[in-house]
Amino acid sequence: MAKSILIVYSTGGGNTKNSAEAIAEGVKQAGGNLVGIKNVTEITVDELTKPDCILIGEPTWGDGEHYDDYLPFDNNMKERLVPGKKLAGKQCAVFAGCDRAYTIFGNAVDMIEDRLIECGAEIMQQGVKQELEHNEASLAFHKKWGHDFVKRINGEMPKQPHIPRMNHDDADRVKGIDPASRKKGAAAGGAAGAGAVKAAVKDAKAPGTVRPKPEAKAAVIPYKTTIAPARTFERKFSKSEIARRRFIQAGTYGSIGVISAAVAVFFFPGGWQVGVAHGQPYFTIGSPNVLFEPPTKFKIGTVDQYQIGKVDTRWQTRYRIWVVREPSKIYVGLLLCTHLGCTPDWKESESKFKCPCHGSGYYLDGVNFEGPAPRPMEHCDVRIDPSDGQIIVDKGKRYRSDKGEWESGSVQGGAYIAL
Ligand SMILES: Cc1cc2nc3c(=O)[nH]c(=O)nc-3n(C[C@H](O)[C@H](O)[C@H](O)COP(=O)(O)O)c2cc1C
Ligand code: FES
Repeated sequence: MAKSILIVYSTGGGNTKNSAEAIAEGVKQAGGNLVGIKNVTEITVDELTKPDCILIGEPTWGDGEHYDDYLPFDNNMKERLVPGKKLAGKQCAVFAGCDRAYTIFGNAVDMIEDRLIECGAEIMQQGVKQELEHNEASLAFHKKWGHDFVKRINGEMPKQPHIPRMNHDDADRVKGIDPASRKKGAAAGGAAGAGAVKAAVKDAKAPGTVRPKPEAKAAVIPYKTTIAPARTFERKFSKSEIARRRFIQAGTYGSIGVISAAVAVFFFPGGWQVGVAHGQPYFTIGSPNVLFEPPTKFKIGTVDQYQIGKVDTRWQTRYRIWVVREPSKIYVGLLLCTHLGCTPDWKESESKFKCPCHGSGYYLDGVNFEGPAPRPMEHCDVRIDPSDGQIIVDKGKRYRSDKGEWESGSVQGGAYIAL
């Protein structure tokens, strides 16, 4: 009788769910006995004791932490399955979501594997780290990963060591991206850069064959870092000379910093503050009561500068808003995803806003209809300045559709200006 396999996952935006489904396809294709594919919110940890094999996945969250839905599941594993090693004899493997923008990369793989081992389980193959959204190559990779798992539990392929765990370059290979192309800047635009992915798919190793390089020596370069000056410097001088120069450089910058700080403290005894307010960065200097932050009120021109029926994103970068003019009114929305605060983009061809983080979709008025966003984006207060006829937007005063506040507009303004 074929060994039973259970797939368990959690997900915020759907990427890890997509991984689970692709893996399930691969398992079935290899003739595996898939007995279920469950969200952690649908089962208790006791159900992990039933199948012969378990595949578990979640997105890495927080700062290299468990995803909110998964955390209680992990706590229960610790409480109920670690004592007596209740998963002894189970064959397992782990998949996780990740994003190199975070310092602790795809750590969910490490955490889940460690917990499974504590519970007595055996890890059969290297955990796969899926960076952000899937593409064709990564779906194929996950399918093959599921397929290989079945082969390994059946003894048709050797057990694969799970350490070292996947690093940035390995995650690139999962998505069919040649890591070297990213380093050359060819993959500018991020892991999901469609052009880079397409170009690199051809060069990618066959799915399932990734072998990681030792993490510490891989000299992985974060793709947002500019490295050119440091490189030139290192080619010209010996190691000891570089060390000496860096020491002097650090001393010089350090002294400038200390002197500047002393001057600032002398003149502005209230100190500095840096932070984010109303979705915009700010800093304060001197007394904490003196706040230098971008204005929440600003003007965006006159009504006739906006076309009827068009979603106008000309102020997206400067003020993080969009403007819609209808025949009878004009309103302004704040581009702040109600899931976790990313900035959705207007997709003209699909007539919707799409959040790049976890795929929430919104109609042109900001009402959510897909993805994890719990409610519509907010509209800002708008009114006409009688002195020059320009629209004044106040981002400090906002209106929520789910509270019925979008109705509160008139010719005087409010949630919209009646025309
Ligand atoms: C609030 C937040 C925190 C995150 N923290 C990390 C992290 O520490 N390390 C990491 O590699 N990825 C991190 N990620 C990236 C997620 O793992 C990644 O977006 C994943 O694709 C989400 O999967 P899902 O669509 O199944 O929710 C974080 C994402 C969010 C939104
Ligand atoms: S969908 Fe998660 S921040 Fe927008």
